[in-house]
Amino acid sequence: MVFSVSVAIRFDSQYLTNASDKFTMTQSLVPVPSGVFQILETPITSDLPLDSPLKLSLVLPTYNEADNIQSIVEILSNILDQSIPGEYELIVVDDNSPDETWKLALELTPQYPQLRVMRRTEEKGLSTAVIRGWQVARGKILAVIDADLQHPPEVLTQLLEEIEKGADLALASRHVEGGGVSEWSIIRRFLSRGAQMLGLLILPEVISRLSDPMSGYFMVRRSAIIGRSLSPVGYKILIEVAARGRIRWIGEAGYVFRERQAGESKVTWKQYIEYIQHLLRLRLSISARFIQFCLVGLSGVVVDMGFLYLLSDPNTLGLPLTRSKIIAAELAIINNFLWNDFWTFGDIARRQPGKRQRLKRLIKFNVICLAGLILNVLLLNVFFNVFNLNRYIANFLAIGLVTLWNFWFNLKLSWRVTEVNEK
Ligand code: GDD
Ligand code: MN
Repeated sequence: MVFSVSVAIRFDSQYLTNASDKFTMTQSLVPVPSGVFQILETPITSDLPLDSPLKLSLVLPTYNEADNIQSIVEILSNILDQSIPGEYELIVVDDNSPDETWKLALELTPQYPQLRVMRRTEEKGLSTAVIRGWQVARGKILAVIDADLQHPPEVLTQLLEEIEKGADLALASRHVEGGGVSEWSIIRRFLSRGAQMLGLLILPEVISRLSDPMSGYFMVRRSAIIGRSLSPVGYKILIEVAARGRIRWIGEAGYVFRERQAGESKVTWKQYIEYIQHLLRLRLSISARFIQFCLVGLSGVVVDMGFLYLLSDPNTLGLPLTRSKIIAAELAIINNFLWNDFWTFGDIARRQPGKRQRLKRLIKFNVICLAGLILNVLLLNVFFNVFNLNRYIANFLAIGLVTLWNFWFNLKLSWRVTEVNEK
């Protein structure tokens, strides 16, 4: 008799501890990653076992979205439970909202086991919130959607289709068929388009690929951004991903930006300043190699001039001019090669080590530069004789074009980044 009672009690208490364990498991916050903003092959998680990867991780950045959080989680779960049941997770990244959005989200987790919640207290800002969310994400596809219901959740399935068709990046766009804005004032439309034009001027090779570069609603293949250092400023995380990721194919789906039903937008004039800052920073870092290449080119001019003086000047060696120039030019080419190999393309050169490899690069560099020299003479003649330009302007243009030629062909041939090396 006594025995059976104690068993019953033990059973009971065991049941209770298990249940409360489970409760605290699902009710705990996701630890916030720190350090560099980089996505790794495997997520930074200590809160979950690393089982098989999921298809989709959708991040919802929130700041004071208490009035929206429950409905957005419910709507998203309904849609995704139909299209990819069990293969997704929702990650709320809240910046310690005064309205306690994070707490409300956490209270939803027993009902939505695919929901995870991160509460940041040290960092803030929309773009970094998205990256911190992706860093703990287990999905092969990383995605983001506003939590205020202004992004229509149905578009998710179209975005998924785009990725499944092979896109590396799929964005919801207001500027393709099926897209638009609901009740925006002329001023807001003008500012939005103006920002896009500015982007086209500063960063054409990135912005021209996106019909809606301001979109904050998109998906990207994890593999396209693994290992890339992201350093976004402010609000526009899409531009950062498009500029720094390995993005070959971009898919788009139209959407209408809905009016906010609850809560407030956090956009102020500060976001416009940050946007311009972000564009300029990307411009510099994308052009860094080219700027280095030009500086090395200038050092070559100094070497060439110096040796021409040493070899051909009557006060020094007094050698014949043509012979002196050939030697000086060749020494300048070797000077430029060494600088470029250690500095401009140093990261690539270090992945192709060995004397033989370096010699190969030197020979290619030499051939490309000599071809560039011939091109230089040809262009100078065309600008001067055919277009009747002033000879110095003609020479300046010719040098500019040949620098581009040299840079491009050396990047593609001498310091070629092969697919195998990329991975
Ligand atoms: N964690 C976190 N931290 N979330 C933030 C922060 C922040 O500092 N600031 C804003 N959010 C969250 C909001 O709670 C919302 O879910 C989402 O980010 C968008 O913020 P809104 O303030 O509603 O922006 P919007 O309505 O002007 O939308 C514009 O920006 C979006 C984000 O890039 C539009 O350009 C959208 O197309 C774009 O998606
Ligand atoms: Mn909004």
